[in-house]
Amino acid sequence: MNLDEYYDVAFDLVKQAGDIIRDRINRPKDIMIKSCEVDLVTESDQQVEKLFMDGITAKFPDHRFIGEETTSSGEKVQLTNSPTWVIDPIDGTMNFVHALPHTCISVALLIEKITEIAFIYNPVLEQLFTARRGQGAFMNGKPIKVSGEKELKKALLMQEMGTSRDPEKMKIVFENFQIFTSKVHGMRALGSAALNMCMVALGGADANFEFGIHIWDIAAGDLIVREAGGVCLDPAGGKLDLLSRRVLCASSIELAKEISVLISQYYPERD
Ligand code: IPD
Repeated sequence: MNLDEYYDVAFDLVKQAGDIIRDRINRPKDIMIKSCEVDLVTESDQQVEKLFMDGITAKFPDHRFIGEETTSSGEKVQLTNSPTWVIDPIDGTMNFVHALPHTCISVALLIEKITEIAFIYNPVLEQLFTARRGQGAFMNGKPIKVSGEKELKKALLMQEMGTSRDPEKMKIVFENFQIFTSKVHGMRALGSAALNMCMVALGGADANFEFGIHIWDIAAGDLIVREAGGVCLDPAGGKLDLLSRRVLCASSIELAKEISVLISQYYPERD
């Protein structure tokens, strides 16, 4: 096993994927609907995922993949101990469709179910977030750190609306806006789960939570936040389970715990 080689090969592929996203964002797109009218996919999502998988397979034929666009809707995700690349080819597809420049490729390598390598790349704003287990987190090669904020009343908090319009789920989203808006400095949402997590890693936001995300939205962000000194938990305060479709990350354990006792919980069907 050669983690340096895996990192270098994936780094080149992530940069190539970024070139496609940057080149296409301002052009007309072929847009297809997935689970509902606000869950979209474009031909670029599919091409980026193929480019990444083909590039890895050519070098490491025994590696496995969990890719957003190759996992059929409703299919159960199989995470094994084999080296597995978890890919969201375009996270923030809705932003990409509208040419809002908060969109990225998100890639994580898990070996024996432990995340070793993570990349989140926004090629439009030229922000490349990288991490390796035990080696810190970086943006464009420079080390990044969470804010360290411990108090909810001084926090900038992120919550997405998500890509489901299920009334039960929407009720929880609105309840949480109501619970937190008056208790924090401000609420934000970039439209990309992966980039929201990067903002916590960067110290630009203090915490982020979302229900209904998938493993490909958060696997890379989880490592980047932890390597930047933050915490990633289940929103009820327990250990994060990447397949649970629930995430809470924060700049400190104190802040994460304060959020987890107040938050209105939602338990989607697992990945
Ligand atoms: C979505 C985005 C969005 C989040 C959704 C994700 P996609 O990913 O990250 O911000 O709210 O939960 O599914 O579909 O753009 O790859």
